[in-house]
Amino acid sequence: MRTSTTTKAKIRIKTRMFPSTLFFITLLSLSPSLSNAEHKTPLFVFGDSLYDNGMTFYGGKNVGAHNWPYGQTYFQRAVGRYSDGRVIPDFIAENAGLPFLEPYFSPRLKDFTNGVNFASAGSCVLVELRPHTISLARQIDYFKEMVQRLKQQVGVTEANKLLSKAVYMFNVAGNDYVNLFEKNAKKNRTISNSRKKLRMRMILDNLTVHIKTIYKLGGRKFAFQKVGPLGCLPSIKYMLSYKGVCAPEPQDLAKMHNSAFVALIWKLETQLPGFKYSIYDFYTSLHLRVLYGSTYGFKESQTACCGSGPYNGDFTCQKKGFSFSVCSNPNDYLWFDSAHPTDRANQGFSDEFWSGGPDLVAPYNLQTLYAAN
Ligand SMILES: *[C@@H]1O[C@H](CO)[C@@H](O)[C@H](O)[C@H]1NC(C)=O
Ligand SMILES: *[C@@H]1O[C@H](CO)[C@@H](O)[C@H](O)[C@H]1NC(C)=O
Repeated sequence: MRTSTTTKAKIRIKTRMFPSTLFFITLLSLSPSLSNAEHKTPLFVFGDSLYDNGMTFYGGKNVGAHNWPYGQTYFQRAVGRYSDGRVIPDFIAENAGLPFLEPYFSPRLKDFTNGVNFASAGSCVLVELRPHTISLARQIDYFKEMVQRLKQQVGVTEANKLLSKAVYMFNVAGNDYVNLFEKNAKKNRTISNSRKKLRMRMILDNLTVHIKTIYKLGGRKFAFQKVGPLGCLPSIKYMLSYKGVCAPEPQDLAKMHNSAFVALIWKLETQLPGFKYSIYDFYTSLHLRVLYGSTYGFKESQTACCGSGPYNGDFTCQKKGFSFSVCSNPNDYLWFDSAHPTDRANQGFSDEFWSGGPDLVAPYNLQTLYAAN
């Protein structure tokens, strides 16, 4: 508690100079720093490129939105977000009254009391699938390391309070399933049901371990985004040479995962006292926008703004040495690149996650989860 000692020393000096103002100095210089941390609800973010706000920008080798045209709408430069602007955790942090979270690898990260973003592009739950990315398991390891640093920053008691009030937000497993198609599409093989079920079982068992790890470290409030409608991704349609709106096989896999995941969370709720959660039905929300784009104000909801090939589904956006096209008004588009929504679309998802009704986010929306004790 180095800071409070310094503050006290400062007060002592000032007291000698102006004894009558002691009360005011105490009020001004001592209480704000303490009550600040006390009234904060940090946000810790885990997952893949839909949530990455710079991890791979600072630490990625073969992944990361490093180049034009990423970031142009909002930041006017590429800042590591796979979007023309902000990603969902940016909007959620804003709604929660927090600044944009720092990615764990950011050189600016000194204060852990707002929370931290660990999400990294390309990340999978199953560590062996994409070894060059930061798997969920590694993100959890970084989180454990961060807990120690938070304790150094504010002391053990205060850190424990912050950890139990915090919201832990996840978008995971999409890449684990996409990977199944990548491997097999190239060989033009169908994927057996037993293989799909085995993959799902391993993902869910690993997620159980990670959720329990955070719970043991004090976490109580969890927010999950369901796996999206994978078959509607321009990248998947390109990969499978699919010509319709959404390819059925990836859709079914995402649906199978999502219902098993909800069942898992119900089970965890009965096992872990005080465990609270929000589940946002991102699958349905994104699916509806693909199907009825104009209802949501999108002129184009199937072809990506940036990329090449059918639906701009060939993931060439930002890649040096490839020719790709970029639309002139990303706000008209649902998809910025072949797998990631635009800033405008992310704003819509975030509004639903934050304050949507029980048909979209259940049993609580994030706003209610945030306010919960
Ligand atoms: C987690 O996934 C790995 C593969 O990455 C698997 O070998 C392991 O059995 C899974 N862990 C659990 C607890 O199921
Ligand atoms: C994949 O297999 C299907 C039939 O099983 C065939 O019609 C199609 O041409 C094959 N595609 C490639 C790229 O080999």
